[in-house]
Order: sequence, then structure tokens, then C-alpha cells
Amino acid sequence: MSARLAVIVVENLTKDYASGWLGHRRHRAVDHLTLEVQEGEIFGLLGPNGAGKTTTVKLLLRLIRPTAGTVRLFGRSPEDPVVRAQLGFLPEHPYLPEALTACELLDYFGQLCGLSRSDRLARAAALLHQVGLPASVADRPLRQLSRGELARVGLAQALLHDPKLLILDDPFGGLDPEGRRQVRDWLLRWREEGRTIFLSTPLIAEAEIICDRVALLHRGRLLACGSPAELAPPTARGAVEILARDLTPQTCESLRARGCDVRADRALVRVCAPASANGWEAVDFIRRSGGCVIAVNPIRSSLERFFEDAVTASEASPA
Ligand SMILES: Nc1ncnc2c1ncn2[C@@H]1O[C@H](COP(=O)(O)OP(=O)(O)OP(=O)(O)O)[C@@H](O)[C@H]1O
Ligand SMILES: [Mg+2]
Repeated sequence: MSARLAVIVVENLTKDYASGWLGHRRHRAVDHLTLEVQEGEIFGLLGPNGAGKTTTVKLLLRLIRPTAGTVRLFGRSPEDPVVRAQLGFLPEHPYLPEALTACELLDYFGQLCGLSRSDRLARAAALLHQVGLPASVADRPLRQLSRGELARVGLAQALLHDPKLLILDDPFGGLDPEGRRQVRDWLLRWREEGRTIFLSTPLIAEAEIICDRVALLHRGRLLACGSPAELAPPTARGAVEILARDLTPQTCESLRARGCDVRADRALVRVCAPASANGWEAVDFIRRSGGCVIAVNPIRSSLERFFEDAVTASEASPA
């Protein structure tokens, strides 16, 4: 493997928040986190709500100070202006001036980044087009935009100054399935352009599709780090959801006897086959019984199942 530059190096990063009356109690949000992100990769920081993802992102950017540990971006302090100039950031909750339109906002941020007027206009137009924001939306005050439209504006501002490193806190937040698919496409394109992307998300299945490597975070602690294929080979068998119609009551009963959860309250029957019941056998059985299978979907992706197992194992063993 060729030696690539480590764009992000995190060592023993720890953050305790003060909590309780007079702040006497401590809550450890990030616990001795160590990881590296290589140049040109899409790296996903994954974990459930409250796992410490946003805290880690804020520590990476030095928006908050660590209790212990170090962060280096491009081998330098995150506060170094040279680093800041190469960094694009999408906050979890972008607080954007509501009275401005998307075009005005990008122009304003472009001025802060020192772009010339012609560069600002050209970049803003190209980015708004790229993130699929039509002129009719980009010319309205931000207060009139939907959550998904604002998420697109947020992504456009992160790209405005052509940064080498993108740090995106929950880029799928607020987007519908089609919007999430588009974001995946954009992230892959931005990686092809040579950018390094660090993203955080609780949506493990979304990240599994595009991330070169992921870190699984639980209660501030790193449970595992590696490529999705290394951590969770996609061949592993899991639970599936089968949507079917024309199932007789007898077929439903037989499926239940095979360990499936069957919801037959409507014309469309939803059959959840646990891994132990083998979904494909259930599909065959439905067909043989004269039922019509409409769709078969994995209930958990391979990485989601790996994550659940890793959480269970970590909770079973003392810290
Ligand atoms: N300023 C703060 N003061 C005290 N506790 C905090 C503060 N910010 C976050 N926390 C706590 O730290 C933990 C981690 O929060 P964080 O926002 O990093 O989680 P997250 O992984 O980003 O979750 P989500 O997926 O919901 O965005 C949570 O238990 C949260 O309540
Ligand atoms: Mg968060």
C-alpha cells in the first residue's frame, strides 16, 4: 500500500463536559479516541445519537478544547490559518442568516474567504447547480427554504473555497432517500476531485455504501475502525423484510411457525424473517403457497449488524 499523507491524526482525544448543579459532575462525551484519516479517502464516524460524533467534529476544528489528547490536520494545529484555508465545514445545525438568499449567502462567505467577485459568482452558480438548487429557490430568503433545501445550501457553502478537506457533520440529516442518494453521489465525486472527506452520521447503512473506512463510536469510545468490507463482509446473512400479497391465513400461520413476524392487517403483508429463519426460504415458501412477493429488503445492513454485535460485546465486558 502506498504511503499516503495522514490528513487527520487524532490521538487519545478526550472531552469531558461539565454537568449538574454548578457543573460539578463530568460527562465524558469522547473517551481516548485515536484515529487517522488518509488523504483522498471518505472516512465515516458512525454511531447512534449521543455517541460523541459532533463533539469529535468540534474538537477536530478546535471549536471546543479537548480535556486531553491531540488533533493534527495536515500535520498542523487545527487553528493554523493555513489549515483553515484548506478546510470546508458543514455544521450539524448550520445557523445561516435567514434574511439572505442562498446566492447572497455564498457571495458573503466568498468575500470572507477572499475570493474575487468573478470567482464568487462562478463558484456559487456552479455549486448551486451541482447541489440541485434551482434559481427560483436560490433567490428566496433562506427562511423560506425547506430543511432539505437548507442542507443543500450548507453543502454548497462548505465547498465554496475549493477546500482539500471536507468535515461534514451529518450530511444526510434532513434529506429524503433521494436526497441522501444524491449526497452519496456528490461525496464520491468530491473524492474523485482529490478531496479528503470526514463525515459523521448515525445512518450506518448510508455510510457503508460510500465510505472507504469507518470508525464506530459508542458512548465516546471507539469500538472498531476499518473498511466496511473488512469489518462486515456483505455476504453475512441477516434478517430481511418481505412485502407480499395474496397470502392466505394458513400461509401466514406457517410463516409464524417458522419464526417470522407477520403483519397481515392490510392487503400488503409485511413479513419480517429473522436471520435464523432464512429470508430466502421464506420467500420460496410464499411463492410455493401462491403468494406474490413484491419486495425483499435487508432489515439491517452488514455493518449495522456488526455494530450491534460490537456494542453488545463492549457492554458485556467491563471498561
Ligand atoms: N455542551 C454540552 N454540555 C454537556 N453535555 C454535552 C454537550 N454537548 C454534547 N453533550 C453530551 O455529549 C454526548 C455526545 O453528544 P454529541 O452531540 O457529540 O453526540 P452525537 O454523536 O453527535 O449525537 P447525534 O447523532 O444526536 O448528533 C451526549 O450525551 C450529549 O448530551
Ligand atoms: Mg451530532
